[in-house]
Amino acid sequence: MKAIVVYDSKYGNTKIVAEKIVEGISEAGEVDATLNRISEVDIKKIPDYDIILVGSPNHMGGPTRSVKKFIDGLKKLEMKEKYIAIFDTYMGGDFEKAVKKMKSRIKEKVPGSKPEILELSIKVQGMKGPIEVDELPKCKEFGHNIVNLMSK
Ligand SMILES: Cc1cc2nc3c(=O)[nH]c(=O)nc-3n(C[C@H](O)[C@H](O)[C@H](O)COP(=O)(O)O)c2cc1C
Repeated sequence: MKAIVVYDSKYGNTKIVAEKIVEGISEAGEVDATLNRISEVDIKKIPDYDIILVGSPNHMGGPTRSVKKFIDGLKKLEMKEKYIAIFDTYMGGDFEKAVKKMKSRIKEKVPGSKPEILELSIKVQGMKGPIEVDELPKCKEFGHNIVNLMSK
């Protein structure tokens, strides 16, 4: 089985989360994981994967514009029965987590994908990070959860 982790990142923290998730997925040895920055992903290749993970920094309570565009782009592809998982990084504050908006956007735009959407939110210490130390192990663990979900 094949997984692709697509992320956007302004200051590099969401990139680190994406890398750790890939490590977590790869450790199990059953799922082949590819990492792609969102600006470099070839969206036409997305249907080659069994699970698509999308990550974004929280920008004003939602994902970045590139992430929204990517999710909207999935609409035109054969996404039936595909797994989707989402993750974000956030600083905290009054706005909601970006994963919440990502989830509702996926439900709206990609209705054929599997309804179970795993999600992860990782807290950073300030606008530019770094990631809170306690949060780091959750990233690899999320990778393990992905493999468990797919091998059910
Ligand atoms: C324009 C902008 C808006 C942001 N808005 C929020 C917000 O509403 N809530 C929040 O928790 N963090 C907010 N942040 C902080 C981001 O969560 C933080 O910069 C990000 O997680 C770092 O990830 P990155 O290193 O991958 O860019 C904002 C950051 C930027 C640059």
